[in-house]
Amino acid sequence: KQIPTGFPKNFLWGGATAANQLEGGWNVDGKGLTTAEVVKKAETREDFSMNQVTTESIAQAAADPTDNAYPKRRGVDFYHHYQEDIAMLAEMGFKAFRLSIAWARIFPNGDDATPNEAGLAFYDKVFAECHKYGIEPVVTISHYEMPLALTQKQNGWASRQTITAFLRYTETLFKRYKGVVKYWMTFNEINAITGGFTGTGAVDADLSLNEKAQLRFQALHHQFVASAKAVAQCHAIDPNAKIGCMLARMQTYPQTPNPEDVRAAQLSDQLNLFYTDVQARGEYPEYMNRYFQENHITLQMDPNDEKVLRENPVDYISFSYYMSTVTNADQDVEHFHDGFVFGEKNPYLQTSAWGWQIDPVGLRISLNDMWDRYRIPLFVVENGLGAEDKVTSDGKIHDDYRIDYLRAHIAQMREAIEDGVQLMGYTTWGPIDLISASTSEMSKRYGFIYVDQDDAGNGSLRRLRKDSFYWYKHVIATNGAEL
Ligand code: BG6
Repeated sequence: KQIPTGFPKNFLWGGATAANQLEGGWNVDGKGLTTAEVVKKAETREDFSMNQVTTESIAQAAADPTDNAYPKRRGVDFYHHYQEDIAMLAEMGFKAFRLSIAWARIFPNGDDATPNEAGLAFYDKVFAECHKYGIEPVVTISHYEMPLALTQKQNGWASRQTITAFLRYTETLFKRYKGVVKYWMTFNEINAITGGFTGTGAVDADLSLNEKAQLRFQALHHQFVASAKAVAQCHAIDPNAKIGCMLARMQTYPQTPNPEDVRAAQLSDQLNLFYTDVQARGEYPEYMNRYFQENHITLQMDPNDEKVLRENPVDYISFSYYMSTVTNADQDVEHFHDGFVFGEKNPYLQTSAWGWQIDPVGLRISLNDMWDRYRIPLFVVENGLGAEDKVTSDGKIHDDYRIDYLRAHIAQMREAIEDGVQLMGYTTWGPIDLISASTSEMSKRYGFIYVDQDDAGNGSLRRLRKDSFYWYKHVIATNGAEL
């Protein structure tokens, strides 16, 4: 057999965003408040503000009619700039634009009797604008947010009832955008759910560690079932559409060849791939039985759940890839941890200003591992470098550090394709600067397009082309042959 050379002809080059970091327009045209819009900006770069939510902070936020303290309410105002923004993506030659739908734009309270027509109409216009330029929308159904009313009423995904609300939402989307949206994915970075509020939409700050573990894995089970049922709905309503899962891939390495370190890294890797194992293979993997038992976690399942998971695996696997980690035997990987765990330092790698370890070869390793394990198409739907950018006096942004990061990762994807991996596409994170998910900063930028707004929300919102804009345009024009 011939070795494939370079990127396939129909490769989906583009960029990825999320409603709550991009759109703004948080209180217009009937939209309800979301869980992302009660999160304040982090005090430090290490602190993940998206998980610092309590019942009191929600009550306080819900009573605050301004966007001053809550950056995800304002995003970068894509709601009013979408034509200009999509035109700029088209100028770069985008083939795909990943965006998410804000559930609360469609069902303001999550479980309303009828959908909000103005919300649906907004996405009609966005998708039409994409198609005008031959850009394929790639749509995340739930990206780190849900209608806050579902948190207040039933503690988000902790409740099984949320599955019903979600399926009404997904059915509405599949029917409305049939033939318009070809690529769907259910939950963004579904593994973040065990990290806390962002994924579960459930307030659990006052619970013990064991109670948190119980709640989060139960909430996760509800998402697995909801996702599998959405796969079934999608296939029934629009047989031409493809629907995938989405994982935050955390490639890890053993710190030394000591077998104890290698075993710890193996378990850490299993605990990352577990989510995709369920969604792509259709069942909980055996190694989780031991984890659940040792962590005193008991899942409540309906009699039909296992069948639903088995019968509805995803069509493709998408994932984000930013960094890799290191695991050793001294790290406690067997036990449940609250929040995000980044592992040890790798002396061979540089880090971003936010401490994320930059590892392009790790992307090739991950792609090969995942292809070997699942044998269904893969899609890198997030990758990029969060950095502070400087605008020069003549309005230029010389972001060669970003170009270096992306170039190295694209080169490794090309290697993986030549290794035989089936890769559908590549959407870099935040092609337009947007609000950071973890810290809600504006100054952590990923874009090819600079947005004039600071952390406090001041600025003209004017869009400027960075050096990376012209570079990525050339990459797409040459289908990745010239980096
Ligand atoms: C992923 C998320 O975790 O990484 C995005 O899916 C997020 O929503 C991106 O923005 C980068 O993270 P951050 O915290 O730098 O915005």
